[in-house]
Amino acid sequence: MAANDSIFLGAHEAPGQHSVQRCDACGADWHELDASPACPHCGGLLAIIHRAPLDSMGAPAAPAALQHAFAQHCCARPSGHPSGVWRFEQVVMPAAGAAITSHPEGNTPLLSRARVSAWAGCDGLLLKHEGYNPTGSFKDRGMTVGTTQAVRTGATAVACASTGNTSASLASYAAQAGIPGLVFVPAGKVALGKMAQTLAYGATTLLVRGDFDDCLRLVQDASRELGIYLLNSINPWRVEGQKTIVLELLQQMDWHVPDFLVLPAGNLGNTAAFGKALREAHALGLIHRMPRLVSVQAAGAAPFATAFRDSFRERLRVQAETIATAIRIGDPASWDRAVRASRDTDGLVLSVTDEEIIDAKVQVDAAGVGCEPASAASVAGVRQLVRSGVIRSGDRVVAVLTGHVLKDPGMLVELHQQRDDFAHANRPVEIEVSVRAVADVLARRTREGA
Ligand code: F0G
Repeated sequence: MAANDSIFLGAHEAPGQHSVQRCDACGADWHELDASPACPHCGGLLAIIHRAPLDSMGAPAAPAALQHAFAQHCCARPSGHPSGVWRFEQVVMPAAGAAITSHPEGNTPLLSRARVSAWAGCDGLLLKHEGYNPTGSFKDRGMTVGTTQAVRTGATAVACASTGNTSASLASYAAQAGIPGLVFVPAGKVALGKMAQTLAYGATTLLVRGDFDDCLRLVQDASRELGIYLLNSINPWRVEGQKTIVLELLQQMDWHVPDFLVLPAGNLGNTAAFGKALREAHALGLIHRMPRLVSVQAAGAAPFATAFRDSFRERLRVQAETIATAIRIGDPASWDRAVRASRDTDGLVLSVTDEEIIDAKVQVDAAGVGCEPASAASVAGVRQLVRSGVIRSGDRVVAVLTGHVLKDPGMLVELHQQRDDFAHANRPVEIEVSVRAVADVLARRTREGA
């Protein structure tokens, strides 16, 4: 693991600032209010380095005091927002002040469902359901912080490339902040619920004739040339917000570290954010060991999983194809950071087929929980690790469900109403206005279930 001094600012660094933006590639520091989408020197990705939280005497805050502060915080703000992101303000954006733009968000549940545990073969499985966020995905945690930064820097417009969830979230938070939002999505490849949200919240929506990777290149060029504030997960403040998934679940587990932390992976922003959260939590003494981070890609969009099997010797790109449109990404942007996250946590990277994703989703849905297809990759990943003997009986496992079941209604209608080969189809039955007809349907269902 890297030394503590690169995790937090040293005592004499950046006087007068709470945080700096540091280039991953050349190490240059930039003021926290610099709005550049990448290092102005070398084009490298920027990361936020905070000053470690201090107590009232100016000494490094003790872990127990920090845990207490996290538990108390936020309702004490004048805004009174009980946000699951801003509760951790000291390690997210300590200088946000009155600029905070919050729904609120976060405070998502950690669920235990016997049906899903039994299917995955893992008694100790907990589901951290990020679909409970205001726009139905984990993106809101990063977006509240990214939008707050847009407000702080006086941005005149904000933009992102997206497979759909980031665009829905950006559209919502931009509307709240009163800043025009611009989104770049692959034409014809965004799930219905996400597109509907993006349009409803009022973002200017560009349907790009290309895939997500094309959209990301285009938005980066447009942001550089047109001076639009970039809100993709390479934005370092978005990463700060997404760290709170980990902080909140550790808090919910009373700061007991799970053995495995499993998440779906596409552009690798979340994998990078989880790694940063864990390194910082460890350096602050909030936790004393690392969970093994497990990033799960769809088999048709799995360059990171392929590279993992070769000890990350090479950075790979693929032409992505999968039913899980959220993670249909072939050239992940946060690659190097995700490699570090994986190495720091003795992590694993898996790929699961579209069939495994659908099987897992059927179980999560039928448990009454529901999630979007990409989210189910994490549960499919748990089952794979149980079967290969890596996850053992007694292990505590948290799988992150990243998005809500209603994000992709088109796929559900197709599976349940249109496809003849779907074994779990729950077909709706059209009837006449008669109790007799109701009784007939019930009788048939009873016979079929017997
Ligand atoms: N799960 C869902 C539901 C997502 O929407 C995404 C990414 C991921 C997992 C993967 O996270 O990219 O950080 O590895 N969605 C982005 C978007 C790309 O534009 O909404 P990642």
